Amino acid sequence: MFSPRTKELEVSGIRRMFEAAPPGSINLGLGEPDFSPPECVQEALFDAVRRGYNKYGPSAGLPALRDAIAERYRRRLGETGREHVLVTEGGTEALAVAALALYEPGDEVLVPDPGFVLYSPHARMAGAIPVPFPLDERRDFQPDLGALADRLTPRTRAIVVNSPSNPTGAVYSQRVVDGIVDLAREHDLTIISDEVYDEILYTGRPHQSFWGRYEKVVLVNSFSKIFALTGWRLGYLLSSPAVVQLANKIHYHLVACPATPVQMAALAGLSQARPAVDQMAREFRARRDLLLRGLQKVPGLRCAVPQGAFYAFPRVDWGLSATEAAQALLRAGIITTPGDSFGALGEGHLRLSFATSRENLRRALEIIGAFAEDLRPSPAAAVARR
Ligand SMILES: Cc1ncc(COP(=O)(O)O)c(C=O)c1O
Repeated sequence: MFSPRTKELEVSGIRRMFEAAPPGSINLGLGEPDFSPPECVQEALFDAVRRGYNKYGPSAGLPALRDAIAERYRRRLGETGREHVLVTEGGTEALAVAALALYEPGDEVLVPDPGFVLYSPHARMAGAIPVPFPLDERRDFQPDLGALADRLTPRTRAIVVNSPSNPTGAVYSQRVVDGIVDLAREHDLTIISDEVYDEILYTGRPHQSFWGRYEKVVLVNSFSKIFALTGWRLGYLLSSPAVVQLANKIHYHLVACPATPVQMAALAGLSQARPAVDQMAREFRARRDLLLRGLQKVPGLRCAVPQGAFYAFPRVDWGLSATEAAQALLRAGIITTPGDSFGALGEGHLRLSFATSRENLRRALEIIGAFAEDLRPSPAAAVARR
């Protein structure tokens, strides 16, 4: 009765944890900023609604917004015009449209493991086969170019990359970015680059975008994180005009057009919200430092330093699986996400989001510390075992 397509799609592990949480839990499971959208963005939304921007708009997005998005890239990364931009209902829709526009049944698509939860399901929805490539904590979760090359076959069509990364917080090094571009060029692969966290960086260096480095790039971005408006659903993709036209066909048949007043709000944000975005990024940095200092003291836990986004992805050696550790912490009052929700290689890790107040992070650290101490064998038990 149902299409096999639906059976292959799994419910995200993140949602399952939320459903089981006792009231009053500290939430380190959130994949969204805990801020409100900048004032100027909120005002522009109300204003657009009052001024009558409540109708369908052009399917590819309002021309003024497409121009403003193009300008954001042209300034740093070279020739980009309105024809390179498709405005979508969030990064989610941009990723889905890219998959549906580009993959053919039987194509193989390299996806990061651990990686964001939509890449594999989107590949499958398009009839393609996701092929995970490993991200290892011992390499600071940087893609291993050799491991990528080992996974190439004549059917490989695309590689999905994500820097700064959800769930690991890694930011790809210049060498890795160059290496992936070289590999893609050599094997004629499309690079799908998910850059939704490009404004949340702790490296002190500008973001290394894949845009402008190679012709066959589809860049995915979103207003969800930079303007803290995840519920408004607005993002975009950037690609060659030919791909944008193809993607626009799919996009039109899925959603008709992006929400008109929300586009007006994003347009205002692009010209006025810089101070608010910088302030948010500074606060995330302070929280990252606080969380990391605390985690370093927790027995049995090891954490690579997140260089971007708002996630830490520690390894927990507590003799528990990731799900058991997350469930035990849930009983102690903290929501986390088991690492294997992001792929098999996330087993043994927890994703901790620091999109919550410093106060909550301090309380969470106390609880995690006490929990890990309790797991340690007492000195008396250790002596008895000798
Ligand atoms: C890496 C990554 N890509 C894309 C998205 C999709 O975001 P949205 O659809 O809200 O733009 C998210 C959301 O959490 C994400 O973490």
